[in-house]
Formats: sequence, structure tokens, C-alpha cells
Amino acid sequence: MDKKFYITTPIYYVNDKPHIGHAYTTVAADVLARWYRQKGERVFFLTGTDEHGAKVAQAAAKAGQSEKEFCDGKAEDFKKAWQALNIDYDNFIRTTDPEHEVAASKAAQTLYVKGLVYKDEYEGLYCTGCEQYKISDDLINGKCSEHQIEPILMKEESYFFKLSQFQIILKEKIISGELQIEPAERKNEVLSFIDSGLRDISISRKNIIWGVPLSFDKNYTLYVWIDAFLNYLTGLGWDGKSEKLKVKSEKLEFFPPDVQLMSKDILRVHATIWPALLLALELPLPKKIFVHGYFTTNGQKMSKSLGNVIWPEDLTAKFGADGARYLLMSSLTYGQDGDISWEKLVEKYNADLANGLGNLVSRVFNLIENNFDGQMQPARSADLNIESYFKELKLFEALQKIKEKVDWANKYIEENKLWELVKTDKQKAQAVLGELLGVIIRIGEGLVPFMPQTAEKILKAVETGEIKKGEALFPRIV
Ligand code: MSP
Repeated sequence: MDKKFYITTPIYYVNDKPHIGHAYTTVAADVLARWYRQKGERVFFLTGTDEHGAKVAQAAAKAGQSEKEFCDGKAEDFKKAWQALNIDYDNFIRTTDPEHEVAASKAAQTLYVKGLVYKDEYEGLYCTGCEQYKISDDLINGKCSEHQIEPILMKEESYFFKLSQFQIILKEKIISGELQIEPAERKNEVLSFIDSGLRDISISRKNIIWGVPLSFDKNYTLYVWIDAFLNYLTGLGWDGKSEKLKVKSEKLEFFPPDVQLMSKDILRVHATIWPALLLALELPLPKKIFVHGYFTTNGQKMSKSLGNVIWPEDLTAKFGADGARYLLMSSLTYGQDGDISWEKLVEKYNADLANGLGNLVSRVFNLIENNFDGQMQPARSADLNIESYFKELKLFEALQKIKEKVDWANKYIEENKLWELVKTDKQKAQAVLGELLGVIIRIGEGLVPFMPQTAEKILKAVETGEIKKGEALFPRIV
């Protein structure tokens, strides 16, 4: 069986360094990629950075750097953060990669040649935070509800993509499930948004030079969102030309994406503009868009001005790669928003990892080392039955099942008073420890995608045939 699995994260804006929201999406994608690899499927996991547009150009100017210099630095920050989190992506695409720029320009040309692009005058309120035109419904007290800044009035001649033409077909494809959107509430939201009417969108910018020039009118650059969507194709080596996706590169076989992860902030554009572009280019649609929850911290939106952003580099420094991955994956339940704070993270680390998993492994390994010379035959233990959770993208729920097993095992040690049993009834102690070791193996296997280093330590210790207590997996944090 030669199955493929192509998973993407959004490409992140480089106007700032990565924060915990970016880390969540990227770790979730990594967990899924690792799980499918563990199953023996061919996997391609794409992430990267979105580097053109007004927002990035402004941030570069503020930093007193050229755009390119600034983007290089920030892209490096993202790569470093992902390395610290042990993210194993197959490609890191940057929209300033020359191959991407060439392909994006060709794709825009194709849309133009196909008659799907026309020139018109446009006037509207533009939010640079969103890099999108806004309508009055999107504003609260005249400010963008997402970025709390007043959008600026822009009036310019612009090239438009005939998005409105795709309204009916998009709706059909979403309803039929050819393009799945999950969870169901999100799908319904998108459908009512489409029902409210899709308008043609401007795909060019006149005053923004930090972008891909339009080949049919060099006075303009390509709208940053169009540029960005194409990453999901160019990240596999698409050259922008092969409309029917003639396989120029082996990697292109992975297209379309099986799962595209993101949060609600960018769902609408992903469920409308992106698939419409694909239809326009006669390319297949993604199979599934999955919208995970959104983080707040201490009940508030995370923002630099509020000073409440949790940075991934602080997470990995404090909890290690696996600790950080575990805490991220256990902070949002399926599709639900969640609140996060340092206090809660430390508490959870100590409860689930130091006292829970770490303590279990250490106690069992210690008793085997000291009472059975490190030799123990594991009993066959029941499957954890978490396959379906991965398939349904219920990562929190999968982790929860593993945690329940850990809790059960720790309780089992207590109930049997195992530290006394090894002295009073060695035979029974051996049976109990064999059973526990079997459970620990299942736990280790279940943790491979979530906590690869920890899983390896556990499974290696068992494989070598000589079990030792070793160092604590998760030292307590105060
Ligand atoms: N550059 C665009 C995406 C283009 S994709 C063709 C963009 N970038 S972003 O840097 O703003 O990243 C948005 C994404 O980061 C979200 O969709 C989500 O995946 C992740 N998160 C950022 N903040 C988040 C939270 N507070 N909570 C959860 N995830 C969020 O939009």
C-alpha cells in the first residue's frame, strides 16, 4: 500500500517572530506527519513564511533594514523555533524564494490570459494588519476588530479576479464534501458567508513595491494573499505553468493537500479565494481544511502591546522540546478555543509529566533494575485504540487516552504497593511489573508522534533488554 499524505500549515507573516499560536499549528502538523510516517505512508509536510506585502515592508522600515535582510532574519527565527520544537518538515517555503516568485508571476499571467482578471477602479478601507480590504461589518468603532487599528481609505485602479463566478460551484463542493471543512460549525460559517455573496477581489497593488510584479502590468504587484496561497503548490516545486499539474517534479504528486491546518482568522479566504484559484487554474481542491482553536492568554487576545505573548523559545527553554510539544497539544480540545498562562503550563507539566509519565517510568524502571537485575519480560498489553483520533484530527483526545493509561498504571503501582511487594512476594511483583512494562511500551508507541525524544528513550530502554532507572525524563519545575 503506497498511500500519500500532504499536510500544510499557513505560511506565517514575518513582521514578527513566531509566537505560541504559530507553534501550535506547526506542532499539530508535525504530530500528524509523524503519525502517518509511523504508519508507513509517504508524507510531505510543508510550512514556511509569507514575506511580501505592506505589513512586512513597514516592519522592515521600522527595523531600519532592507526588506530582504529583514525577512532573512525573521525566516531564520522561525526555522530556529521549529528546530527547538523538533519539527520535522519536508520543506520550508519562503515567498521570496526566486522559484516561488517566478511561479506566482506565471500563475497570475495564466489567470489573466484565461480572462478571469479585469481592470477596474476600487475604493475601500484597507487594513494592513489583515492585508485585506474591510467592509463596515468587519469594523468595531471604525477599527479592525482583529487588529484594533483604523483601516486606511485606498482608491486605486486595480486588477480584479472574478471570484463571484465561483460562488455556486464552491458552495456545491463544500456541501458535497469534495472540499471538507471541519469542525462542522466552521463549515456552516463558511457556507453562510458564501451565501451572503462573493464579490470579485482586487489581486493587484499599485503602491506596494515589496511583492511579485505583475507580468501584464509592471506598475503593479500581486496581492500578497494570492502570492501566499500559491505556496501550497510552489512548495512542492510547481513552476506556475503546468496547468494540469503535469508532473515536473516528483513531489507534485503529493498535490492536493490532504489536510490544511489553520485557525479561524484565515478560514474565509482559505475556503473561498484559495479553492477558486485552484478551479481557475484547473487544479484539484484540497481534501480538508481543519480549523483548530484559538489561544488567548489569561482571557485576553495575545498581543505584543499587551505584553502577554507566550513565545515558543521560552516554552522550549523551560520545558524542553517534548515538554513544550505536550503542553501545546494538550491545551486545546478539538476545534475549541483555549486559554493559556504560564501558571497553568507549569502546573500541567508537573502534574502530567513530572508526577505522571516521568514518575511512572522512573518507578517501574527503578524496581526492575534493583530487584530483577534490569531483566523483565513485558506482558502483551491491550492496544490503546487511538488510530481513529488521529484520523479525525482529535489530537488532544489521543493524548488524553495516553494520559489515562499513565494514570491507571500509577494507580496500579499504588494499589499493589509494589515497592513492598518486591520484598514480600517476588513472583507476584514480577507479574505486575511485566504487566506495567507492557503498558509502558504501549504508552511509548502512542507518544512517538507527540514526544519523539521521550518515546525513543522509553522504547530504547526496553529494546536493549537491560532496564535502568536512568535520568528523570521530566525534572520538576518550580
Ligand atoms: N500569512 C498569513 C497566512 C497565509 S497562508 C497562505 C497569516 N499569517 S499569520 O502569521 O498571521 O498566521 C496565522 C496562523 O497562525 C493562524 O491561522 C494559526 O494557524 C496560527 N495562529 C496565530 N495566532 C494564533 C492563536 N492565538 N491561536 C491559535 N493559532 C493562531 O495569516
